[in-house]
Amino acid sequence: MKLYDDISEYYREIFPVADSLKNFFKSLAKPNYDKTLLDVGCGTGDFIFNISDYYSSLVGVDIDKSMLSIAKKRQKTNSSFVNSSMLNLERNFNNQTFDIISCIGNTLVHLNNIDEINSTFKQMAGLMSNNSCLIIQIINYDRIVDNKINFLPTIETQNLIFKREYELVDESRSVIFNTLLKEKSGKFQKSNSIKLLTLRLNELKALAEYNGLGVESVYSGFDKANFDIGNSVRTVVKLIKS
Ligand SMILES: C[S@@+](CC[C@H](N)C(=O)[O-])C[C@H]1O[C@@H](n2cnc3c(N)ncnc32)[C@H](O)[C@@H]1O
Repeated sequence: MKLYDDISEYYREIFPVADSLKNFFKSLAKPNYDKTLLDVGCGTGDFIFNISDYYSSLVGVDIDKSMLSIAKKRQKTNSSFVNSSMLNLERNFNNQTFDIISCIGNTLVHLNNIDEINSTFKQMAGLMSNNSCLIIQIINYDRIVDNKINFLPTIETQNLIFKREYELVDESRSVIFNTLLKEKSGKFQKSNSIKLLTLRLNELKALAEYNGLGVESVYSGFDKANFDIGNSVRTVVKLIKS
């Protein structure tokens, strides 16, 4: 994917792993810190490396070779990485189960349509045992669509500026996500556009429940703050296989 090929080298600087994210997954790993985790759309693997001390084994899957090559270079003994689409989880992890599956950082909405999300949930559920949990984190698209929000806040780091705009299309079923990454000293400037699905919370819940995944909690972030459909920027959903 051109967007991720272009930003992979800078991804860790733009999106550092927050303490709240680390603590959320540390708490899921309790009490024995011996659980297994599958991170779907793992990108550069930074999230996995930040929590690897709390899990017995961690596997990351990503479709983008540039992102994954950074993860593979930094691989730890209890982590491994697979280059695959989340649409092929069943084929890649036949007969395996995981205690925790994560799909965070707005990854799920990179799929093309509701049928693909349904297929991914079905395949994820197939890799879970009873009481395994799935954590999904996406942008709150109810807020984006209902309030016609056309940008996400610009991210500024020591060296970089990352601008993000949204253009609602397909009768608001999707957004075109336009990004501009600039190096502050003017060394480079990279612009990209990708289409993302504007998945609403009720659609996510219905698809999950259809596949045997019950909604345990919905938060507005990994700090477990209350979710407000009209105002929260992000949606974090904890689903349990029953
Ligand atoms: C915004 S990044 C999030 C990365 C990481 N999860 C995080 O939270 O920082 C989205 C990731 O999803 C990956 N991705 C997009 N479509 C995918 C697919 N069909 N299967 C697996 N990964 C995919 C991209 O390559 C990219 O690494």
